[in-house]
Amino acid sequence: MVYGIDYYPEHWPQERWAEDLSLMKDAGINTIRIAEFAWTLMEPSDGVYNFRWLDEVIAIAAEKDIKIVLCTPTAAPPKWLMDKHPEIYQKDEFGHVRGFGSRRHYCFNSSVFMEYSKRIVKAMASHYFNNENVIAWQLDNEFGCHNTVRCYCEDCSSSFSKWLKNKYGAIDAFNEKLGMAFWSQQYNSFESVVLPAHTVCDNKSSGMYAHNPGLFLDYCRFASDSVGDYAAMQISELRKAGITTPITHNFMGSFYDIDYFKLAKQFDFIAWDCYPNIAHGPFSGLPEVSYNHDKLRGYTNNKFWIMEQDSGQNGWNFMHATPNPGEIRLWAYQAVAHGANGLVYFRWRPCLFGTEQYWHGILDHDGIPRQRYEEIKQTGAEMLSMSDVIDNTDVVSDACVLHSFDNTWSHSYQWHAEGFDYNKILYTVHNSILRNNINCDVRDAEADLSTYKLVVMPAYNISSENVAKKLTAYVENGGHLVITFRSGNRDEFNKINGLTLPGYFRGLCGIDVINYDPIGNGGRSASCMIGKFTPNVWCDIIDEKETTVLAEYTDGFYKGSPCITVNNHGKGKVYYIGCNMDIDALAPLFDYICLGADVERADLRPVPGVETVIRKGAGGEFIFAMNYTDAAVYIPIERYYTDKITGTVFTKSIYLEPYGVVVLY
Ligand code: GLA
Ligand code: ZN
Repeated sequence: MVYGIDYYPEHWPQERWAEDLSLMKDAGINTIRIAEFAWTLMEPSDGVYNFRWLDEVIAIAAEKDIKIVLCTPTAAPPKWLMDKHPEIYQKDEFGHVRGFGSRRHYCFNSSVFMEYSKRIVKAMASHYFNNENVIAWQLDNEFGCHNTVRCYCEDCSSSFSKWLKNKYGAIDAFNEKLGMAFWSQQYNSFESVVLPAHTVCDNKSSGMYAHNPGLFLDYCRFASDSVGDYAAMQISELRKAGITTPITHNFMGSFYDIDYFKLAKQFDFIAWDCYPNIAHGPFSGLPEVSYNHDKLRGYTNNKFWIMEQDSGQNGWNFMHATPNPGEIRLWAYQAVAHGANGLVYFRWRPCLFGTEQYWHGILDHDGIPRQRYEEIKQTGAEMLSMSDVIDNTDVVSDACVLHSFDNTWSHSYQWHAEGFDYNKILYTVHNSILRNNINCDVRDAEADLSTYKLVVMPAYNISSENVAKKLTAYVENGGHLVITFRSGNRDEFNKINGLTLPGYFRGLCGIDVINYDPIGNGGRSASCMIGKFTPNVWCDIIDEKETTVLAEYTDGFYKGSPCITVNNHGKGKVYYIGCNMDIDALAPLFDYICLGADVERADLRPVPGVETVIRKGAGGEFIFAMNYTDAAVYIPIERYYTDKITGTVFTKSIYLEPYGVVVLY
């Protein structure tokens, strides 16, 4: 297993490098990731290259048998380049230049930047292509971070015109498919089509966005594709120079501006940057991290790396809490449980200067190894003894949640009701399943669904007859499917299809949605066989026809109307959930649905704050049980279990210390 450190030798005197690498070696570190922001050091002026310093670091690492993940440095274009070609800068939606002073200040559609990027990638590749110590290449750093996927510059405008022309062929087709008849927006040429930048009726503070929804969706797709084209250029330069080692990129967790299913296809494996210590939004904490791990695994349906794993107090202008002793180890196990087979800690030592002075890692500012160092040393040793589990077992799931980036983008522009958050809905479903000790994949509609016993499609609004056909076949063959409110209502052009809801899925669900109530953050009451609950955000009012009603509203003018139904179809079942439910209401519902679908679950009593993941394969079958709380937990058992990490045999109950982990067989 790759057990690594993100290292910035360029921030420290050369005399310190050997000591750093020796300390790493002693902690079991076998890999460092370097150079992703060091363009100016490698090309101090136009066309002048200097790799001496990097050769030196790589040589010292090689002496200690520490391998290298080498990065292309394009996330931080040099000042000399920006001064020479200011047209490379991004423009924001108001037309303001996003200038120099931090990083990622380039536009993916700048042909000038493409050329300069090609040149530095080629120079690095021809210098290092046969260096045996380099085991993988990382492109750039976190494509799209800091809101840099969507740019509104002149280069983007002309590239978007070409992208549209390529898609629609004729301008009349474009006008017709996207409904430009509304407000007299018909265009006479692709060249005259605008980017959906700030416009007259936009008012962010009151949540008003006025552009044509189809134009907005195409722009999101185009901007995402632009990142893909830029990545493809770098990969092609590396391969042309003779590089045969795997090429990867560090994706982000709670990030949705790039279609990661599409981007992931270009890489030999993917990695992501995992910061459990930072709250990312309305839902946060370790269950959200698990959702992100499962999402990342789903982008390739394969194992993945963590390229930056949280390891200390962190922040730019202020700091987040220091990890409790045991948490860094717990986060490592959480990643591995969900499918990581490479773990690289961010970062070795906090910098004494620059924007990230406060971003801690394994060491402190004074460079002295203390508790966090000892913790990664212990974790590294444990991981070595776990290699059979890591390499020879997989997360095998009977349940799967379907995610689509088209829907992410469409829902983000028109979010139906106050409080509607597609990503939160996906996360809530995923975690309601996990809470029942059940593994859950996150895939897209292209996935082979036949391996799943349960597929859940929350708010799958943009869809097609083809997707409906695929799901019909899945259910007819015995699959169980859950569809929710705001599904099947829009075509691929982000137009409402005019079908009776749930649109494309009406036949499958066997119901008609005859009215709906976007109640937003208000609440309704409802009850079902699992008890009373309080729907919020959205309520569908349903004519259940021949289906069985599982829950109904108990107040308001639609009191007595069904809100959850189930339809027998072929050998399978289709559940329809017509209202938004929180995790406490959804978890028991999924317990019931998963029982009916015979979905495998870990043979342990579910305990709040403890998550389990089942891994199986040639290496055996294991249950990872992880305590996300600061209190010790006992879980009663009815059979013997042995902990793979410590060899402890549990006979009556499993003991988990605060932030503790066991790997049971
Ligand atoms: C991201 C980046 C790193 C670093 C950390 C901390 O994940 O990839 O370069 O900036 O955040 O801010
Ligand atoms: Zn641009």
